[in-house]
Amino acid sequence: MALIDSYVCEVSAKGSKSSTPTSTHEATYMRRVSSTPHRRTRLRGGQSTRSMQRAHVIVLMFNKLKVIKWILGNISDQMRAPTGGVSGWLAMQIMKTNASSTREAIRRLELNQNDTFVELGTGHGESLRRIAEMDSVSIPKRIVCVEISTQFRNELQKNIAELPTKLPVEIHGEDCIKMPYLSDGTVTKLFGMNLIYFLNPLPEYLKEIKRVMKQNGSVVFGCKLGVVPSNTEEFANIDQKDITDAMEDAGFDVTTEKVEIYGGNYLEIKGTKR
Ligand SMILES: C[S@@+](CC[C@H](N)C(=O)[O-])C[C@H]1O[C@@H](n2cnc3c(N)ncnc32)[C@H](O)[C@@H]1O
Repeated sequence: MALIDSYVCEVSAKGSKSSTPTSTHEATYMRRVSSTPHRRTRLRGGQSTRSMQRAHVIVLMFNKLKVIKWILGNISDQMRAPTGGVSGWLAMQIMKTNASSTREAIRRLELNQNDTFVELGTGHGESLRRIAEMDSVSIPKRIVCVEISTQFRNELQKNIAELPTKLPVEIHGEDCIKMPYLSDGTVTKLFGMNLIYFLNPLPEYLKEIKRVMKQNGSVVFGCKLGVVPSNTEEFANIDQKDITDAMEDAGFDVTTEKVEIYGGNYLEIKGTKR
C-alpha cells in the first residue's frame, strides 16, 4: 500500500519530508533519495510546461490509485489474512512495502523498558526489526504479537531467529477479538499498522483492547485510508470519522495526525485510555 505513497513522494518537493531518519540504514536510504535529481529539473520550458507536467502527474497518480484499489479489492481476503497461493503471496509482497511506515510508527511510540507492548497483525515483523535496533532501555519488558495468518507466523518465527538482539517476544495466533493471555489493565502501548480496516465488528474489538489497556495507555493504528477499496466485505472500517467515533465511544481520547515519511505516508489514529 505504500506504493502510492512512494509515488506521491517522488513527485513532491525534495526535502519536504517531516520525519527524520531513524537508523543508519534509513539515513543512507534518505540520502540516496535526496541526491536523486528531481524530475522537474530535467524539464526545460516555461510555466505552461510545468503546468502540463503537473497535470500529467495528477492523471498518473489518479490512475495508479485506481489500479492499487482494484488490486487490493480483488485480493481483499488475502490482504485481511494471507493463507497462501498466488494471491496470498502477492498480498504478502504488497505488505512488504509497509516497512517504512511501520518503522516510523514504532519510533513514534517511544517505547521503554517498562512497557508491555502489543502488536496486532504483525505481518512480516518489521516492527521487531526496528525494536531490535534500539538501546536496551527502549526495549519493552514484554512484546506480544497477535497474528492470525499461519504464513505470517511462520515467517515471523524465522525473522525473529535472525534478529541481532534477543527480544522478549511471544506470538499468538488467535483472532485478537479475545486476548486471554493479557490481564486487565496491563498493556501500556498497543499498535496495529493497516489492521483496523479488518476488525469487524469494531466495537467488539475495541472493548477487548480497552480491557487489556492500562489507564493512559496508548493505542496507535496506522492507516492508509486513501488506497483501500470501498467495495469489499473485508475492508469494513475505511472511514476516519467512523473509526475515531468508535474509539471515543469505547473509552479512548482520540487524536489523528498525518505522518509523512518517504515511501510510507500514513494516518496515525491514536487513542489514550480514559
Ligand atoms: C494488511 S495486513 C498488515 C500487516 C502489517 N501490519 C503491515 O502493515 O504490513 C493485516 C494483518 O493483520 C492480520 N490480522 C487481520 N485480522 C486479524 C485479527 N482479527 N487478529 C489478529 N491478526 C489479524 C493479518 O493476518 C495480517 O497479517
